[in-house]
Amino acid sequence: MMGSVSGKTKGGTRSNSRLLLVCVMAMAVDLTLLTHCCAESHGKARKSYEQVEGWPPAVNLSVSNKHVVMDNGILKVTWTVPGGQVVGIHYAGVDNLLETVNKESNRGYWDIVWGKTRSDSITYSMIGSSFKIIREDGNQTEISFSSRWNPATDSPSLPVNVDKRYIMLRGCSGFYSYAILEREEGWPKANIYQIRAVFKLHGDMFHYMAISDDRQRFMPTPRDREAGQVLDYKEAVLLTDPSNPHLREVDDKYQYSSDYKDSKVHGWISFNPPIGFWMIMPSNEFRSAGPVKQDLTSHAGPTTLAMFHSAHYAGLDVMMEFEEGESWKKVFGPFFIYLNCPSENEDAHMLWRDAKKQMSEEVQSWPYEFPSSEDFPKGDQRGSIEGQLLVHDRYIANNALLSGRFAWVGLAHPGEPGSWQTEAKGYQYWTKADSNGNFTIEGVREGNYSLYAWVPGHLGDYKFANEISITPGLKIKLGNLIYQPSRNGPTLWEIGIPDRTAAEFYVPDPDKKYESELYAQGDSSDRFRQYGLWKRYAELYPDHDLVYTVGVSNFSQDWFFAQVTRQISSTAFKGTTWQIIFPMDDVQPSKSYTLQIALASAMASDLQVRFNIPQG
Ligand SMILES: *[C@@H]1O[C@H](CO)[C@@H](O)[C@H](O)[C@H]1NC(C)=O
Ligand SMILES: *[C@@H]1O[C@H](CO)[C@@H](O)[C@H](O)[C@H]1NC(C)=O
Ligand SMILES: *[C@@H]1O[C@H](CO)[C@@H](O)[C@H](O)[C@H]1NC(C)=O
Ligand SMILES: *[C@@H]1O[C@H](CO)[C@@H](O)[C@H](O)[C@H]1NC(C)=O
Ligand SMILES: *[C@@H]1O[C@H](CO)[C@@H](O)[C@H](O)[C@H]1NC(C)=O
Repeated sequence: MMGSVSGKTKGGTRSNSRLLLVCVMAMAVDLTLLTHCCAESHGKARKSYEQVEGWPPAVNLSVSNKHVVMDNGILKVTWTVPGGQVVGIHYAGVDNLLETVNKESNRGYWDIVWGKTRSDSITYSMIGSSFKIIREDGNQTEISFSSRWNPATDSPSLPVNVDKRYIMLRGCSGFYSYAILEREEGWPKANIYQIRAVFKLHGDMFHYMAISDDRQRFMPTPRDREAGQVLDYKEAVLLTDPSNPHLREVDDKYQYSSDYKDSKVHGWISFNPPIGFWMIMPSNEFRSAGPVKQDLTSHAGPTTLAMFHSAHYAGLDVMMEFEEGESWKKVFGPFFIYLNCPSENEDAHMLWRDAKKQMSEEVQSWPYEFPSSEDFPKGDQRGSIEGQLLVHDRYIANNALLSGRFAWVGLAHPGEPGSWQTEAKGYQYWTKADSNGNFTIEGVREGNYSLYAWVPGHLGDYKFANEISITPGLKIKLGNLIYQPSRNGPTLWEIGIPDRTAAEFYVPDPDKKYESELYAQGDSSDRFRQYGLWKRYAELYPDHDLVYTVGVSNFSQDWFFAQVTRQISSTAFKGTTWQIIFPMDDVQPSKSYTLQIALASAMASDLQVRFNIPQG
């Protein structure tokens, strides 16, 4: 078994033997061991390794004038010093998985989009000014690239201290990164619109992207995009002359967005040589605006993102707005960049399945024990909460309690019911209750929270009356919680299902010219992400707007999934007026009637509702 390792010094080209080293190693020691080790860096898997003498080797660190390099025998990562930009990832015989055509500052980096007012937008590159070795003991190495905001000299720059960390573990096929952002008292106001980490992969290698089981495909190249025709916004390009003729369709990175709850792993596969590059997000505790906030994942480039916070899909309502003098600290991550390669006879598509398996290992080992920062509390410094959510709705079941079946239950910054949807400065912890409404939330950082929930099928937002205070080791048992949905009387009619999606409504087929092969199957729940569906409304309703007749119409056929505008000239758009016609035989003039509307998402929009009198 070890023969193939020492074989690296014997013959063949350097790169071939290197490939052999990692992949044969993985196969010989057992691929599962290799991939499981990260989650259990101090556990069982390590012991099994030690049966193989000298493997895995210690993590080594070397620092030169301009660069720092970490090497654990599986991969070797290079950063700029003291900036902390990732410039090289050497793996499986490939000198660099990142795009070497790009400048060193444009390969692997964190950045923030911010503004001093609501109307300016400045990119801050999070480049460190000081480099420090935090820990180096052979089993793990952690390094820090930090910068401190100085009120005297840095006033044009984002008033935030940044400490960017990278960790490599022994025997582990990847590396971790997290960042601690901090504002001190007395600092000027600032708005933060976006926080992310970006990896730009080698364009000659990575052509196949995987977001989920049913969203994966060969992707266009940057050249294909440049040669194409820009559509309604710059991100959407009709590929007119793609190098792969199958890709004669629209490319738009927003087609690959996911809810945060569904984007814990995504990335790219190279088939020659066979290598996977994966972004694994083991927790959403540090992401903004709850589990159904959507955001970008990976897209043509080839690019892979770790999105922590953004105004995408919700607009400025979700931005972090810091008042003059407001202090704040938050830890983003760690996320894990996982690299894998198949053994000799395996098809490279298995790399996606292996990445999913690695993702669940990472999720199970959250909160990680290895980050060195005191700002990242370990498992025993965190608390948990459990309970059962029941629904009391006397218009559905008189005195009976219904279970809060598959409710989403979460802790977030104290606030009003539903306030978590726009909350971005604190931590959030969400889980999906079981079919009885039972839920457990573990690994909660110390602090004060409100407990929020929503139950698919029931209108409104639940909030537990008392504030919840989590302290280290505390296990809170709440017992039964009873949600009384917001109601003003019996339901006369309802269109759709209150569940924070528009999936039940009518999603049209796209214009053939814009159809994405990925969503051509018809039953994909992501079909609504296709380009240009909003224009289909005017084609389906050319002369008059949608009219929905309660009792006659069927919302899965007759209610367009998005309330959109109609284009009336090359630059002008007009709002549309939809009518809901409903019979009411027995109107009681002395009584109040209530219309409740649940919007799944809205951006830069204006909704007006009128009864009986169509004009305002
Ligand atoms: C490294 O890990 C091994 C195996 O768990 C352990 O025996 C050893 O003490 C660790 N070394 C350090 C410096 O923590
Ligand atoms: C790191 O250095 C130690 C001591 O020189 C060596 O035994 C080990 O193999 C090195 N690790 C790697 C990944 O080269
Ligand atoms: C939580 O709230 C209590 C009471 O208001 C306060 O004393 C405590 O400091 C808060 N804890 C944290 C971690 O903010
Ligand atoms: C659900 O929660 C209730 C109340 O906390 C508890 O009595 C019951 O045993 C739980 N059921 C399951 C299946 O965990
Ligand atoms: C509404 O339309 C859907 C999709 O065509 C169909 O499956 C469903 O049975 C219809 N519902 C009713 C009440 O007709």
